[in-house]
Amino acid sequence: MTKSTSGAGGGLEGIVVGQTAVCTLDGRMSYRGYTIEDLAARAEYEEVAYLLLYGELPSAAGLQAFKSRLGAAAELPAPIIDTLRALPANTSMMDVMRTGSSMLAHFDADVADNGREANLRKTERLLARLPLVMAAKHRFDTGRTYADADPGRSLAANILRLVTDREPSREAEQAMNISLVLYAEHEFNASTFTARCVASTLADLHCAITAAIGALKGPLHGGANERVLEVLEEVGAPDNAESWIRDALARKVRIMGFGHRVYKDGDPRTVILTPVCRRLAEATGNQAMEQTADVIEKIIVADKKLPANVDWPSARLYYYLGLPVSLYTPLFVCARTAGWAAHAMEQYANNRLIRPSAEYTGPALRPFVPLAQRG
Ligand SMILES: CC(C)(COP(=O)(O)OP(=O)(O)OC[C@H]1O[C@@H](n2cnc3c(N)ncnc32)[C@H](O)[C@@H]1OP(=O)(O)O)[C@@H](O)C(=O)NCCC(=O)NCCS
Repeated sequence: MTKSTSGAGGGLEGIVVGQTAVCTLDGRMSYRGYTIEDLAARAEYEEVAYLLLYGELPSAAGLQAFKSRLGAAAELPAPIIDTLRALPANTSMMDVMRTGSSMLAHFDADVADNGREANLRKTERLLARLPLVMAAKHRFDTGRTYADADPGRSLAANILRLVTDREPSREAEQAMNISLVLYAEHEFNASTFTARCVASTLADLHCAITAAIGALKGPLHGGANERVLEVLEEVGAPDNAESWIRDALARKVRIMGFGHRVYKDGDPRTVILTPVCRRLAEATGNQAMEQTADVIEKIIVADKKLPANVDWPSARLYYYLGLPVSLYTPLFVCARTAGWAAHAMEQYANNRLIRPSAEYTGPALRPFVPLAQRG
């Protein structure tokens, strides 16, 4: 009855479990046929979200209409604001995102409709509102009041404004935009596969996104970007970096921000983000952290042959933008919602329940012993 194991080393490694037209990592990483190099250099996050959801790049008028809909949807129902205010101050921000996504379902008139048009409407509302959930909770935690997004601005600019209460520079907005574009989608990663599994049961889109947020929280997946910053802060000055990393590698510590299930020779997102990160470090006087990161990266690459993944530069980038570490993985949620939703809609459109089999490793059949006769 059992057909195969779950890939050479387990974890479904190298196993093709479905088809997708949303993204490929084969050859050049691309979203619906456009390379991430082109998209990161030339597109706004909103354009990329539209591409992922609707399948084509928008016209200028189409993009304007999409942004207007996002702007109009950028508000939170009062009971959600009250609940966010009532949550304990030390609640994990990823738990807040998961709760926020779940709560938004209760206030969405389309929640039970799994049709494509309803799913597009729901996704647009989630794209507009999840950043507000993140910003609102952070503002409450830091003694501030709720603030609305400015519908005339980009998602990147609104996130920076709402979190820092400062006017973002053009360079900061561009850097945030590039990170959102690069985080928007990544084929059958753990959280996207989670979203597809949930969608395959025909549960609704909010269920799929909420479950995906749970999967993203783990440190082997999205949670890595927060751990990266913890490492860099623990190492401190560049002079400590070599001894710190050699000791960590000798103790077989898993270094967050390195290695990848698919990219064994390098993550193309890291190549794009690293120079952006360098420029921002210079503009904000954070060259010392870049030097520390350089020492660590060179040693891991030389000794372990493990290339840096996207979380390595993105954590530094968020730090240079003045964002608190607790928001790094929630920012990933804000960006990846477009990819998750595109995959969920693809699953609904051509669905078959995802239900694999397992290789049984438990005891052979044995007689049942009644309770009174057990020792
Ligand atoms: C992402 C990750 C889970 C993918 O790994 P994988 O394909 O499952 O590879 P494995 O966990 O089987 O690791 C293979 C080997 O490389 C080592 N390795 C992998 N990533 C490592 C890391 N970041 N630091 C140190 N060693 C690492 C493993 O210890 C293992 O060594 P061994 O064969 O001597 O036991 C893994 O690289 C990792 O944990 N990275 C850190 C977390 C991270 O940055 N996640 C974000 C990914 S975008």
